[in-house]
Amino acid sequence: MRTKIVAGNWKMNKNLEETEALLSELSAKLPDTDAEVIVAPTFVNLVAAQRSLQGSVIQVAAQNMHFAENGAYTGEISADMLLHIDVDTVILGHSERRSHFGETDELLAKKVKAALEKDMTVIFCFGEELEERKSETHFSVVESQLKNALFDLDAQAWKNIVLAYEPVWAIGTGETASPEQAQEMHAFIRKTIAGAYNDSVADEVSILYGGSVKPANASDIFSKPDVDGGLIGGASLKSTDFVDIIKAI
Ligand code: PGA
Repeated sequence: MRTKIVAGNWKMNKNLEETEALLSELSAKLPDTDAEVIVAPTFVNLVAAQRSLQGSVIQVAAQNMHFAENGAYTGEISADMLLHIDVDTVILGHSERRSHFGETDELLAKKVKAALEKDMTVIFCFGEELEERKSETHFSVVESQLKNALFDLDAQAWKNIVLAYEPVWAIGTGETASPEQAQEMHAFIRKTIAGAYNDSVADEVSILYGGSVKPANASDIFSKPDVDGGLIGGASLKSTDFVDIIKAI
């Protein structure tokens, strides 16, 4: 059975006080669920988040990390620094990192490798732009994103990978992929992984959908057989919405 996951990517939102307040609301309202629940606050609030969530099933992830162990990389954060504060999950390859900060597949391959070498779990994001969907190149774009960043890994490494398909045109736009579009792409992703590795790697990897998931559309999207949960941006910033999305899974 694949793990079901609902992860909240808080991006550059919530100061310390707001982080603690949101986490205490979430903890109070958290429904019973088999799904893993993850939140990714900003770097400066990770320690506080870990403290607020002591004894909770809610896990904490980072939104990014550098590939180097340490050194002269002003403004960056290493895997060891995250592990030192018990954060062992990291989101890599988010489209905002790719588009605003120039992160390429090649750089992401290094980051993924660095995280996996430290036994971290990687939530790897990828997805096509609107123009690519319009020109019907979305399948080949997604295939090359996966191939360039991940297909050098050995099959064993995939135990620590979670995929998050996030069509860029659906992120923060209010426009979601339809459940059918999500399923079609998730099935394609699984088939691509089966081709590069084998059926068991493909069957075991959790593939999340991200892009304007809200309480109103979550159940329909999560009901699709190849959708194993969601990476939630805007709606993870309100406890009631995030809890309703968790209930939907
Ligand atoms: P959104 O963001 O839910 O606000 O569209 C999703 C994401 O960027 O991961």
